[in-house]
Amino acid sequence: MCGIVGYVGKKISIQKSLIDNLKALEYRGYDSSGIAYVLDNKVNIVKKAGRISNLEENIKEDIVSNLGIAHTRWATHGDATDINSHPHKVGKVTIVHNGIIENYLELKSKLIKEGYTFQSATDTEVACALLDYLKKQNNNNNLEVIKEFQTYIEGSYALGIIFDDDLETLYATKNDSPLIIGLGKEENLIASDVSAITNFTKKYVIIDNKEIIKLSKDKVLFYNNKLQEITKDISEVNWNIDNQDKCGYDHYMLKEINEEPLVFRNTLNDFLNVDDFLTKMPNLNKYNKIHIVACGSAMHAGLIGKYIMENDANIEVLVEVASEYRYKKVFYDEKTLVILISQSGETADTIASLRKAKADGIDTLGIVNVVSSTIAREVDHILYIKAGVEVAVATTKAYLLQVLMLILLNLKLQYDRDLITKDKLQELLLDLKKTPNYLQELITDEKKYSAIAKKIYQDEDIFFIGRGIDYAIGMEGSLKLKEISYIHSEAYQAGELKHGTISLISDKTKVIAIITDKDIYLKTISNIKEVKARGAYVILITIDDLINDFEFANEIIKVKDINKYINPLLAIIPLQLISYEVAKLRNCDIDKPRNLAKSVTVE
Ligand code: F6R
Repeated sequence: MCGIVGYVGKKISIQKSLIDNLKALEYRGYDSSGIAYVLDNKVNIVKKAGRISNLEENIKEDIVSNLGIAHTRWATHGDATDINSHPHKVGKVTIVHNGIIENYLELKSKLIKEGYTFQSATDTEVACALLDYLKKQNNNNNLEVIKEFQTYIEGSYALGIIFDDDLETLYATKNDSPLIIGLGKEENLIASDVSAITNFTKKYVIIDNKEIIKLSKDKVLFYNNKLQEITKDISEVNWNIDNQDKCGYDHYMLKEINEEPLVFRNTLNDFLNVDDFLTKMPNLNKYNKIHIVACGSAMHAGLIGKYIMENDANIEVLVEVASEYRYKKVFYDEKTLVILISQSGETADTIASLRKAKADGIDTLGIVNVVSSTIAREVDHILYIKAGVEVAVATTKAYLLQVLMLILLNLKLQYDRDLITKDKLQELLLDLKKTPNYLQELITDEKKYSAIAKKIYQDEDIFFIGRGIDYAIGMEGSLKLKEISYIHSEAYQAGELKHGTISLISDKTKVIAIITDKDIYLKTISNIKEVKARGAYVILITIDDLINDFEFANEIIKVKDINKYINPLLAIIPLQLISYEVAKLRNCDIDKPRNLAKSVTVE
């Protein structure tokens, strides 16, 4: 959500130094974009609501510059309009900003008294005016201005700053919003994350809160908030940047679903050998309670984790959305493990929940995709999934791997609680090795999903039902469908329907039922019969050979019956692909659904 980039170096085309880098951040979701670049000794600004292509249409192709900043905005304060877009320039200061300035109204009224007027509805213009005001008080030292600025601001920010009196230098700082510095040869960069610098360099530095950075063509200086110069660790990007290409698929989402067998293999490989597994997994001996905290699909993965851990490892697991957890009264102690799940590792509410648990001295474990992200760095123990870059806003491959990681944790819990032997553990790990082939078979079965999509794409309400783990799978199926196709859908515990919601079922209402859990399938069948009797059109996703009488379903998709861990993983694929096909038939913007962002860095 909101992305910033900045470049200082050789004189090169601003398309290359700013716009291309900005496009790498499109995945974060945005509704407007803009750039500021230095030309003829002055700062020039172009900003437009809408896609980056709108911005490009307003920029002459041949402009070259040695310094600039750029931004994708996801509106928080004020509509998505040209005027509210970043960069903002007030007096002698130009900025791009990611984050939220919480006390901006108070600052704004003080600045109005000092004679400032405001064009936009944004908190960012206020931050910019404050920098300009402090600059007037402290004319010569831009680092001092930023240091003082920090003492006035409540809230989160990652800022790229250009001062009119120093057009060879780019300044940056951050608090609670991500910022990295790319170190190149005769060129240096700032960005919200590493995907936006890999065209130039693989070397980067992660910035911590309140640090201030001064970047010129040949030098990058890092300071703490007392303006003492500091040295920082340099990291290297080790993933393949080609990941960001659609590779011939119509959409990133489809490409990413097709990558699922490969990324599953990559993630599992590190744990296949039982001795490696035992070394890499944390010791879970001491815990008697687990809290899983996450948002959206990551929370749905957590729900699957809950069902399997409670059943197999005999441990109580609470799953909570992070935006609730961070503010609620939580009952935990030194025997509780708090697991934070996040693809991006930058989700604001999940980070806040992590910090809450840490502040209370509770052990934390992260399941994260993006290496060195905030959650990955701050948890006590990190388990990385290896999904690679996920560009489509709707998660698919990362979600699948989050479930895989929870299955692995469940095995470790069972081992640590003396519920399975080392030999049994090795056997179960090797069983999982077969999953990618089954995933592949399902993904290839494309026609089945488009046939079902044709039956449901004109509906406006769809229900998902299941019990236990199948309800958790339905929750994710429902979210996937609604977020990319804009069809209203809801997931229900199958037995709960008749306590109200069944009144919505009438002739031809579409109901997608999921049955992978053999222990309770007969109960779910009864619930399916109840909706069928009220006219529902039922699409059943189930496992081979479990049910012989299919009279109660209008459509059936079967996945192989392998074991209780692999079956749910397989059931996820049809749901992802049906959602994709439905969104395609409805001509939706599949990779960038309206109002959504890949990384939700505001609360
Ligand atoms: C839905 C989706 C979101 C994310 C959620 C958490 O397809 O992608 O619901 O799962 O915003 O994001 P992360 O995992 O980055 O914390």
